Amino acid sequence: MSRNLTQTHAWFQKSKQFTPMGVNSNFRYWDEETTMIISRGAGPYIWDMDDNRYIDYRLGFGPVILGHGYAPVVEGVAEAIKNGTVFAWTTPMEIAVAERIIRMTGVEKVRLGNTGTEVTMHALRIARAYTGRERFIKFEGQYHGMHDYVLFSTASSPVGALGSPHSPVNSPTTSGIPHGISQYVINLPFNNLERLEEVVSARWHELAAIMVEPIMGNAAGVMPQPGWLEKLRELCDRYGIVLLFDEVKTGFRVARGGAQEYFGIQADLVTYAKAMGNGFPIAAIGGKAKVMDILESGGVAHGGTYTGNGAGAAAANITLDILEREPVIESIFAQGQKLMDGIHDILTRAGIPHFVTGVPSMFSYILGVEEEPKNFRDYCAGDDALYEELAMELIERGVMPDCDGREPWFMCYQHDDGIVAQTLSVFEDAVKAVKQ
Ligand SMILES: Cc1ncc(COP(=O)(O)O)c(C=O)c1O
Repeated sequence: MSRNLTQTHAWFQKSKQFTPMGVNSNFRYWDEETTMIISRGAGPYIWDMDDNRYIDYRLGFGPVILGHGYAPVVEGVAEAIKNGTVFAWTTPMEIAVAERIIRMTGVEKVRLGNTGTEVTMHALRIARAYTGRERFIKFEGQYHGMHDYVLFSTASSPVGALGSPHSPVNSPTTSGIPHGISQYVINLPFNNLERLEEVVSARWHELAAIMVEPIMGNAAGVMPQPGWLEKLRELCDRYGIVLLFDEVKTGFRVARGGAQEYFGIQADLVTYAKAMGNGFPIAAIGGKAKVMDILESGGVAHGGTYTGNGAGAAAANITLDILEREPVIESIFAQGQKLMDGIHDILTRAGIPHFVTGVPSMFSYILGVEEEPKNFRDYCAGDDALYEELAMELIERGVMPDCDGREPWFMCYQHDDGIVAQTLSVFEDAVKAVKQ
């Protein structure tokens, strides 16, 4: 079986004439043969330039929680932007979005932004300004966006560059970061209580924040072990460190109130983006009033021409309204659970060792492992090449997860019974093809 990709390839070649690697984000480049150009999306589907249709489980790296081109969002945004989009003043729509985020998540104050990168960057500044400290802890295999402070030991780093788990080293994910920046970040293995306690008790006076994706959304959805997030909360309380949940992927997706609600833990600062706007650029920093109020003096910089812009704010207002009123979370959990169970069954019957990770609205599976992976190093022990081979067989048959096992499968409101059944049937065929 082989799809016709003639037009898709031709458009990709054209894109490469104007744009480095032919893509506007490095993550969108797979290789010369498999990098796609997409013509449109509708509900759970996307189409390439040759009109091949795919059931989409990437959903734009997670934001599209209601489905592509979801009419109430698109129509609401279209209506809103007729009245203009940026005024260099606050609009009632921004106020409505902040009020909704507070009601849904339990944060006490909110500032809006446009992207995950932007809000994690500002959140770190707020944490530093609040504590008067400069360094922060993050965890290996966690990704917090494209600004310099966080681009060390991310999910793009080779495991061999991370050093020993007993004394991890910061591995820069990219060229172009000033050497000295590395001194401000301490990378530790996720779920490693002993190492965490050791570092925090020795260095707490330097630490502005512990920044964490509560679920490893950039490493196959590896889960926090019982007690892990509680320990982060406890240590932050004990030492006056800001607990910063990066909920760019988990926010409004793993529960209406995000990971804070799912795990029953309130952070001091929380960053949101993706699912809050169903694919429109909108993001937020929320947090406890005592921390967020550091902005009240005007002495801590946060700004942006487009923060709270009309399109993003309207999209968030409508998306969050739908998430609050309709059983979106219930639906994506029910359908995602069927996929998790079905995939587990198929892989088990095929005799392929695996571990299914994450939560139903954002899950994955790691191949070639017998035990639950607990951190990025464990993830890397899995069989990435087999994952990719299987993913490519799925894509060939019209089911589109990411080919990279680090990126979870995302569910949307329009993945229904039929689509899930079709996905599992394709999965079964893809596994057979791989076994051959
Ligand atoms: C947890 C997390 N934080 C931050 C970001 C950066 O968000 P953005 O791509 O909107 O800048 C991402 C992107 O995938 C993410 O997964």
